[in-house]
Amino acid sequence: MSSRKLALVTGANKGIGKEIARQLASQGITVLLGARSMERGEAAACELRSMGLDAHAIELDVTNQQTIDDAALKISSEYGKLDILVNNAGIALDRGDGMAVELETIKKTFDTNVFGVFAVTKAMLPLILKAEAGRIVNLSSGLGSLTQNSDPNWGFAGIKPIAYNTSKAALNMMTVIMASELKDTAIKVNAADPGYTATDLNQHSGPRTVEQGATAAVHLATLDADGPTGGYFDEDGVVPW
Ligand SMILES: NC(=O)c1ccc[n+]([C@@H]2O[C@H](COP(=O)([O-])OP(=O)(O)OC[C@H]3O[C@@H](n4cnc5c(N)ncnc54)[C@H](OP(=O)(O)O)[C@@H]3O)[C@@H](O)[C@H]2O)c1
Repeated sequence: MSSRKLALVTGANKGIGKEIARQLASQGITVLLGARSMERGEAAACELRSMGLDAHAIELDVTNQQTIDDAALKISSEYGKLDILVNNAGIALDRGDGMAVELETIKKTFDTNVFGVFAVTKAMLPLILKAEAGRIVNLSSGLGSLTQNSDPNWGFAGIKPIAYNTSKAALNMMTVIMASELKDTAIKVNAADPGYTATDLNQHSGPRTVEQGATAAVHLATLDADGPTGGYFDEDGVVPW
C-alpha cells in the first residue's frame, strides 16, 4: 500500500471539482478525477499532469452502480485504500420554477445529488476505512440550509429551486448521519459550501472563481486529526444548518 495519499473527486472533469483536484494534487496527493465521460475526464487529467501533478481519470457516473463498483474495484487493486473522497458531482436542473417543477426533475436531481453520494460513499467506505485517517467531503450549497432559506433577509432568499435546494438539504442530513456513524473511527465527514461560483452549473453567473469555490472543500479534505466532523462549512467558517 502506497504511503502517498490518494483522493477521489467525483465530477472532476470541470468546474469546482477539477479545481479541487488541482489543489489537492498540488499538495502532493495522487488524485483520481471521476468523470462520467472518460474523454472529458482524460482531458482534465492531462491538463493537470501537464502542470506536473499526479492526476488520473477514472470512469465514474454517480448514477450508474456498475461504474461505481468498477471504480471501487480498480482503486482497491491498484491502491488498496482511499484517503479522501470528495463527493462533488452535482446538477441543478430547476430554476425558479417553484411548485410548477416536474416531479421527474426532482427525482433526477436527487439521483445525482443525494442517491449518487450515498452509492459512491457506500462503495468506497471499505477503502476509506483502510486509510490511516479518511476524509469525506460532500459538496453542499448555502441553498441547502434550512436556516438561511427560512430567513427572508438572507442574500439568496429569493433563490428557491425546490429540486436543487431540497437535494442539498438532504445531503446535509446525510453528512450528519455518516459522521455520526463513523464517529468512533478516524474518518471525518463534512459538508462544504463553495459559495456562488462561476461554472457551467449556473451559466457562469456566480461572482466567485473556482479557486475560491474549491477552498472550503480542500480544507475539509485535508483536516488534521483535531479537525471537526459532522459540520457544514464555507471558507469563512460554520454555515447554519
Ligand atoms: N457553482 C456554484 O455556484 C455552486 C454553489 C454551491 C454548490 N455547488 C456544488 O458544487 C458542485 C460542483 O458544481 P460546479 O458548479 O462545479 O458544476 P459544473 O461545472 O456543472 O460541474 C459539475 C460536475 O459534475 C459532473 N456530473 C454531473 N452529473 C454526474 C454524474 N451523474 N456522474 C458523475 N459526474 C457528474 C459533471 O460532469 P459532466 O461534464 O459530464 O456534465 C461535472 O464534472 C456541485 O455539487 C454543485 O451543486 C456549486
